Parts: sequence; C-alpha cells; structure tokens
Amino acid sequence: MSHLYETLAAELAQQIDQETLRSGDRLPGVRTFSRQRNISVATAVATYRRLEADGYIEARARSGFFVRARERLRSREPGITRPRGRPRPVSGQELVLELVKAANDPGVVQLGAAVPDPAFLPTHAVERAICQAARQHRLHTSAYEFPPGLPELRRQLARRMAESGCQVHADDIVVTNGCQEALTLALRAVTTPGDVVAIESPTFYGLLQVIDSLGLEALEIPTHPRDGMAIDALQLALAQWPVKACIVTPNYSNPLGGCMPDDGKRRLVELLARHGVPLIEDDVYGDLGFAQRRPSTCKAFDADDNVFYCASFSKTLSPGVRIGWVVNARQRAKIEYLKYVTNLATPTVTQIAVARLLESGTYERHVRKVRGEYMRAVERMIAAVDRLFPAGTRVTRPLGGFVLWIELAREVDSFELARRLLPLGISVAPGPIFSASQRYRHFIRLSCARKWDDQVERALATIARLVAEATAPGITAAR
Ligand SMILES: Cc1ncc(COP(=O)(O)O)c(C=O)c1O
Repeated sequence: MSHLYETLAAELAQQIDQETLRSGDRLPGVRTFSRQRNISVATAVATYRRLEADGYIEARARSGFFVRARERLRSREPGITRPRGRPRPVSGQELVLELVKAANDPGVVQLGAAVPDPAFLPTHAVERAICQAARQHRLHTSAYEFPPGLPELRRQLARRMAESGCQVHADDIVVTNGCQEALTLALRAVTTPGDVVAIESPTFYGLLQVIDSLGLEALEIPTHPRDGMAIDALQLALAQWPVKACIVTPNYSNPLGGCMPDDGKRRLVELLARHGVPLIEDDVYGDLGFAQRRPSTCKAFDADDNVFYCASFSKTLSPGVRIGWVVNARQRAKIEYLKYVTNLATPTVTQIAVARLLESGTYERHVRKVRGEYMRAVERMIAAVDRLFPAGTRVTRPLGGFVLWIELAREVDSFELARRLLPLGISVAPGPIFSASQRYRHFIRLSCARKWDDQVERALATIARLVAEATAPGITAAR
C-alpha cells in the first residue's frame, strides 16, 4: 500500500517525536543512510525529502540534513485534562447518531467515527473465512452457540492473551457482540442504577451511552494524553465518592491515544483492588501499537481477579463481524447469564470464522502489517494538520490506534463546526460528545483510518479554513 521511503520516514518521524533523535541532531548522509539500511540512494533521498516536506528535518547547505528545532518542529500536544470532579448523569449524546449515520454514507469524507476504512481491514480473508464456516459447518452454524460462546474461539482468545503476558482460562471468557457489549455486560455485573463510575476524561462516547442507558453517574477523572488516567487524581476521587467501578482504555485510548506505562497499570490495578472497586479494562486498540512489542494489559497485573478485560476485533478484522469478549473468572456466571437474557447468543458463523482466522495465523499476520500502515496514516494526518491548521492548534502524538485529538482556539465551537461540515460532505467528531458534561467544546477528534487521497487532503483544508474563519478576530462561531 505504501512505499519503502514512507515506511522509513514514518520510523524516523517517530524517533524524532519520542526525542530519540533530538532537535539539531545531524542525520547520516544519504549515502551512509542507504548503506546502513541496505536501500538505494534514491530511496534514502526520498525518505529525507518526505521528512523535510512534513517539517521534521531541514537541509543545510553543504552540511546535510538536521532535525528541526523543537518549537519550529510541530504543533504542541494538548495538556492533561482537568474535568470538574463530581459525579453526574451523562448528557449531550444526541449528535452521535447523526455522526454514526454519516459514517455509513459513501458520499461523506469520513473523519468522524473511529471506523477503519476497508483498505485497513483483511476483508477478503474475513469473507473467505465466513463462507468456509457456512459451508463446512452447516449444521453447527444453523444452531445457537449459547454463552459463553464457541469453545474453539475461546481457546484461541486465551492463547492470544497468554502471548501478551495475560494468563486466563478459556472457560472464563464470554464471547460478546463486540467490545460495546463486553463493556455493557461488565458494567451490569458490578453496578446498579444510580451508582458512580469513574472514567477517563475525555472518553469513548459509546461508553458514555452505556453509562447513560444503565442509569449510572459518570465521574470524569483527569487524564494525560500520553500516560492515561491520572492515578493520583483517581485516588483522591476514591476517597471522596462512592465509586462502584472504574473503566479505562489503557492502550491507545480513544480519543487521546495515550498508553499507560506498565508501572501505571500495576499501580492502578493495586489501588482499585485495595478499594474493592472493579476495574473494567477496554483493550480494543491493544493490538494496534506502532512499536514491535505489544503493550501489557491491566489484566496481566491482576492477582485478585478484580479486572474485567474487554476487547473485540472491530478495529483489526471487521467491525461488522461483531465479535468481542469479556473475561472475569469471579463474575463469569453472572456475565454469562446477562449475555443470555440480553440476546441469547453471538452468531455462530462469525465465531467459527474468527476462530479460524486466529488459528491459521491470518490475524497475526494482518495486525503485524496494519500497525505500520496505521502509523503512517497517523503521521501523515499530523503533518497535514500542522501544515494546514492555524498556528496554536495542538495535536496528540499517539503511539498506537488511529485517532487524533485536536485542540483548536477557544473561540471555535466544534459542534457548530461539525454541523457546518456535514452538508459539505465531511464528518468530524466534536469534542463534547467525549465528555459526560459536554466539556471540550473547542476540540475535535479525527480518524486517520482513511486511505489517503486528494479528497482527504481537500477535506482537511476545508476544516482548517472553517476553523480559521471561526478564529479570526470579530468572527466567532454561532452558538
Ligand atoms: C474505545 C472503544 N471501545 C469500544 C468500542 C466499541 O467496539 P465494538 O465495535 O467492538 O463494539 C469502540 C469503537 O469505536 C472504541 O473506540
């Protein structure tokens, strides 16, 4: 899908972002670089030109290529969030359905919903696996596969989790219709209406909708765009409020893209276990890190079986197969029962197909490939935002997943921006839908899981123009 020079450029860009390569550092000459990487001189030159065009490095006459000064390099990142610290019912989710429908409209340049473009999904492999499952297991697929779900799929899931350092028993896994159902079942297992749930701020709007539909109250906890939920702030909140569950997306959260370090995960698990508060872990993006090593999970540090691990294949294989899972040994029977009374079962044919894709290694090969593609897509979108958006715009630097959280000038009303963009055939996700209390009015989330083309570039230029208009002195967006 992309050229070698783009892969190399994205790799070097990441080293610059992480300050492995620092401002002012001299890059090896193109001939040295071509020798080091075993590539042609032309590819080495193309790599450096790409980094130069994206604003990472600069050529100095007769001296070579240098990493640009940090302040000139790129926009800054948004800082840690500071939501007001009291529990409240969720409000303001009405626009979301509009957004979700826009995601399915082929006429809309879809930068809003975090749904991967088919170019990032192994659509043919999924299609083949489903057809094969339907053909080869005709009797089986025409029957219910009651909770906890297909044994072979659960075995494959347990094996994969073990590979990422998390030992769970296949019998403790309950197969669900996507991660959304996994989160819902976990929450229903540990809360009753009126209970308080601690969440990251901002957080995935689907989670806010679940909290709303179960009659729970959300307590928004300050969250760092790189390191995730602020554990000290959570500790204070636990002392002050009767929190009944805590939900985090420790790996490449949506929308911030942060990845909690191992030490943070361990502290979080221990803190919540001490307070007897269940931790619901959403790891839907865990396989999509840009580094070689997959990040650990909170469940891997869970000696007390206090963590409910939830994930799915919606971001990696297909959102349409609706296969997810939840694991917690202690509450397994309750989760199974709740799953059964909600929708009896998850479709059998897709369970067989996903089990086959895991067992054959197709899934692993795909995620290994697509991680690099997402990394390049994210890098390219950051570079475009830096180039096109008004000065002062702040952008996150995720190390996995495929969404960007963008802080615009305070005057910009992102709801108004999203409403003006839809008739122009462009969708973005406005900041307030990621908050229980409609904070983040001057933020937007962009999805980078789009095949890059002129249409996307033009859409970004249009967004940037409307943002600039809303920011210009004397012109503020209507409220
Ligand atoms: C953080 C997070 N959790 C859960 C989900 C829902 O996943 P699924 O489609 O598997 O239900 C999403 C989808 O956008 C998400 O971003």
